[in-house]
Amino acid sequence: MKKRPFVFLCTGMSLDGKLSNYKKECVPISSDDDRDMLYDMRVFADAAMVGGNTLKLDDPGLMIKGEKRIKQRMKLKKPLDLVKVSVISNANDLKIDGDFFTRGSGEKVIFTTKETSNKKVEELRKKAKVFVMGEKKVNLKKALETLYELGVKKLLVEGGGELIFSLLKDNLVDEINLKIGNLIIGGRGTTTFCDGDGFGIPSFKKVKFVKIIKKPNYLILKLKVIK
Ligand SMILES: NC(=O)c1ccc[n+]([C@@H]2O[C@H](COP(=O)([O-])OP(=O)(O)OC[C@H]3O[C@@H](n4cnc5c(N)ncnc54)[C@H](OP(=O)(O)O)[C@@H]3O)[C@@H](O)[C@H]2O)c1
Repeated sequence: MKKRPFVFLCTGMSLDGKLSNYKKECVPISSDDDRDMLYDMRVFADAAMVGGNTLKLDDPGLMIKGEKRIKQRMKLKKPLDLVKVSVISNANDLKIDGDFFTRGSGEKVIFTTKETSNKKVEELRKKAKVFVMGEKKVNLKKALETLYELGVKKLLVEGGGELIFSLLKDNLVDEINLKIGNLIIGGRGTTTFCDGDGFGIPSFKKVKFVKIIKKPNYLILKLKVIK
């Protein structure tokens, strides 16, 4: 494999491992969900990536928040805005007037497949760099190599569960930063931290616990993925 960025996940899940609720809404996962951990992680990233469902449902702006963090980025000599990246198999009904595409001056990058029409690809190209990589699913290894060539050395992945599963399956994750809240959300079909088809014995992914921080209403875990 050619060079790829350092890939670190930062995701918040409820006590029962859910990333959202049964309505797929963007919900708090702890009773005082301040999102500070995620905003702090963005400071160190060159780019932030979300899956296509997250892009369509949440339309995240992926901005650097607050004076303190803006100053930290200046100290790190990083541009104020992140490169924003999404992986989406079929982008035909993706709107390009939301926060992801319009907020911030950072480059937008879309990885998609042949499921997206040529007409839609042309429309997306008005707002983003677009790469068609794969028939039905995006080739994530190739996508990461492309990001590296575009100058992305540190890639923050914010979710959701389908994208996280695929990255783990392809051994493309280096570090996991997980916030575990004190709320139980439930729901049979609700998005979890790692969805996809799941891993069979003996291919479960293993991690090493690096750091655990206990806050009144949530835990923060820093984990290294064992390859
Ligand atoms: N709590 C948090 O920190 C957090 C963070 C992010 C998101 N979320 C929540 O997560 C939910 C969405 O998560 P999700 O699991 O449904 O979807 P997702 O991971 O956001 O998106 C997966 C999308 O990527 C596409 N894709 C293309 N190539 C892929 C590949 N190689 N591997 C995996 N996916 C590929 C899939 O398309 P096809 O399946 O059509 O091929 C699908 O559209 C939302 O409700 C959002 O609120 C929560």
